[in-house]
Amino acid sequence: MLFEAFSLRATQLSNRTVMSPLTRHRAVDNNTPNSLMATYYAQRASAGLIITEGTSPSPNGLGYARIPGLFNDAQVQGWKLVTDAVHAKGGKIVVQLMHTGWVSHKDNMPAGTEVLSASSGTCPGQMRTDTQGDQPHSPARAMTEADIQTVIGEYATAARLAIQAGFDGIELHAANGYLLEQFLNANVNRRTDGYGGTAEGRNRLVLEVARAAVKEIGAERVGIRLSPHGVVNSTSAFDGVDEQYLSLVKQLSALGLMYVHVLDHSTMGAPPVPAKLKADLRAAFDGPFILAGGLNKASAEQALSEGHADLTAMGRPFIANPDLVERMRQDAALNAPDPTTFYTPGAKGYSDYPTLAG
Ligand SMILES: Cc1cc2nc3c(=O)[nH]c(=O)nc-3n(C[C@H](O)[C@H](O)[C@H](O)COP(=O)(O)O)c2cc1C
Repeated sequence: MLFEAFSLRATQLSNRTVMSPLTRHRAVDNNTPNSLMATYYAQRASAGLIITEGTSPSPNGLGYARIPGLFNDAQVQGWKLVTDAVHAKGGKIVVQLMHTGWVSHKDNMPAGTEVLSASSGTCPGQMRTDTQGDQPHSPARAMTEADIQTVIGEYATAARLAIQAGFDGIELHAANGYLLEQFLNANVNRRTDGYGGTAEGRNRLVLEVARAAVKEIGAERVGIRLSPHGVVNSTSAFDGVDEQYLSLVKQLSALGLMYVHVLDHSTMGAPPVPAKLKADLRAAFDGPFILAGGLNKASAEQALSEGHADLTAMGRPFIANPDLVERMRQDAALNAPDPTTFYTPGAKGYSDYPTLAG
């Protein structure tokens, strides 16, 4: 089934392998996509769908060095290079909107920006900076209700700019402990107003952002990524997590979103997402369902044939294998990814992995 075509709402995919979103830190000038990035994505255009690296809808969400944004005209023009190159090769591509929230360091961020999150505090752990190496995260200020309205507007604008830039849609990154999950997760969100305190309050920002994006570009072009039970960036499970996510996904289903994308990082050492929860989330969403995390050809085929997902996403295999789909089709050997070049600037370890053709 992996090589069968699929209708992702209005978008026709040539196969069911999705390229997972992969932050690669190559937007070296002013967080603006460039021709090197266009080359890299075009090399991977035989994926059924490409989900771009996390891309900030706001200057305040650029917590990592050299990640791209989507809030100004230069970035729209930069992304146009990417979408044109992918479409010219017959691929489909959505942009992942990622606001880093408290997973940020001031040295990585443009002047005049602020580290914001659901609550005040400092994300435990460290972040790489180009200026001073690994540093503790910068402290975050708790967002006011006015800040929340601003950020919802930023997501809506980014959704509109995404269509201007030629994307087939957007993916809201509500996983891996970034801003939207900072609101979803009871271990991070300590608010006592209407955006916290209860499951309904914690789900509220994600739903308001989703509705705002839907209003701009239509539900069939808005997907979302979720990681219940994830532990990245000081999240982790909390009392009632399963019920909260089920309620969230039911409401996202009512909106008719493009897809729900659920991530299980257990192959990277994280606790597994309970199989029952994955099945319940799939059942709760009346639409396309993507699973990701540690998949290979055999496990992806199995997930599809057993009906656990409509599409399967792969990350690290796509870093090292631009022609991953063809390699899987032929059962050819895969190149191994080199983690030392995951986040370094330049073409090395980025656009220079060989295809089967050389
Ligand atoms: C270098 C690297 C960068 C990543 N960047 C992102 C990102 O920007 N957004 C996201 O949702 N996940 C990101 N992830 C997680 C991947 O999308 C994926 O879920 C993870 O690698 C597990 O899937 P895999 O086993 O197929 O690689 C990243 C992972 C890696 C290795």
